[in-house]
Amino acid sequence: MAIPIIDLGRQYAQLKTELDAAVLGVYDHGRFILGPEVGCLEAGIAQLSGVEYGIGVASGTDALLLALHACGVGPGDEVITANFSFFASAGVVTRLGARPVFVDTEEDSFNLDPTLLEAAITEKTKAIVPVHLFGQLADMDPIMEIARRHNIRVVEDAAQSVGAEYKGRPAGSIGDLGCFSFFPTKNLGGSGDGGMIVTADKELYELCKMLRTHGEKPKYYHRIVGYNSRLDTLQAATLLVKLPHLREWSEARVRHAQRYDRELADLPHLTVPKVMPGSTFHIYNQYTLRSRKREEIIAGLREREIGVMIYYPVPFHQQECFADLGYAADAFPVSTAQAETVFSIPVYPELTDDEQGQVIAALRELAA
Ligand SMILES: Cc1ncc(COP(=O)(O)O)c(C=O)c1O
Repeated sequence: MAIPIIDLGRQYAQLKTELDAAVLGVYDHGRFILGPEVGCLEAGIAQLSGVEYGIGVASGTDALLLALHACGVGPGDEVITANFSFFASAGVVTRLGARPVFVDTEEDSFNLDPTLLEAAITEKTKAIVPVHLFGQLADMDPIMEIARRHNIRVVEDAAQSVGAEYKGRPAGSIGDLGCFSFFPTKNLGGSGDGGMIVTADKELYELCKMLRTHGEKPKYYHRIVGYNSRLDTLQAATLLVKLPHLREWSEARVRHAQRYDRELADLPHLTVPKVMPGSTFHIYNQYTLRSRKREEIIAGLREREIGVMIYYPVPFHQQECFADLGYAADAFPVSTAQAETVFSIPVYPELTDDEQGQVIAALRELAA
């Protein structure tokens, strides 16, 4: 691929000396499980998120699973989430024995439409999981207002939005708990799986901490049945090297996005993504365009060896594993149309001006 959708090698080359030393440092002290780097990263991510506590876990998926478990979600409960997201946002609900309830998305943000939220609430609703898709926060003010009025917990799926802001407030600080992923392609990506829960609530913090080590407190005394889900010390050590660069990397993504906006917005067969009014820092984990000519454009990009991905081709209500939820095929027109038209192009910080120029030139040919 001449211009891949993401090139992690470039980031490694930039930080190789520090990353290698950090990894070897862990081998030197040998505390592979919950070593000192995990605590340092938890403090760093909590500070970035404007809350007191961070709990490092094995993945973003597990962050959501443990956070919802800590909210008391279980059999008989319902959890509301957006119909258009990465699978984990809904899969974790089913894994806890609860029922996922889907809400359609906003046309312009790809995020849960707050005007449809209240109608989805029942006496069984235990939690709401707004997803901050592609690096932009959902419209949290109305979501929180509705949740508080109904006494329902809010778990932010901020897997794609570490460091992003809504009305100046950081992702993860607005709901009861926030969940991040350190999957390698995220803005802050590890060298494997990793995740973190953040919260300002001490009780929820204690509960999540217990849940990640089989519900024990103290060691070998199990108050509840939990999981084995810890962020590896090796991952924490590499993420600590990267954390100070997160802001500048996200700002580079914003610059790329702004150039795409400027140079692609006039094309008749393309719709560029929008920054919503409340979104004070969109971190562009993905730059996601829409087109009714998507398949043709994607084929043309691939021919030119330009990386392109569809995030995500199938809305939740059409996933085979959710067939028993009984949603009609046309129940969610906005997210269904989004799944049919979206595609994402390279926006990683290390993308050069020349490479971006080639992506733009290709799209100007293909979407004219
Ligand atoms: C929106 C969203 N939620 C949850 C996850 C799950 O994170 P992980 O892959 O670290 O389990 C991801 C990332 O893959 C994601 O993009």
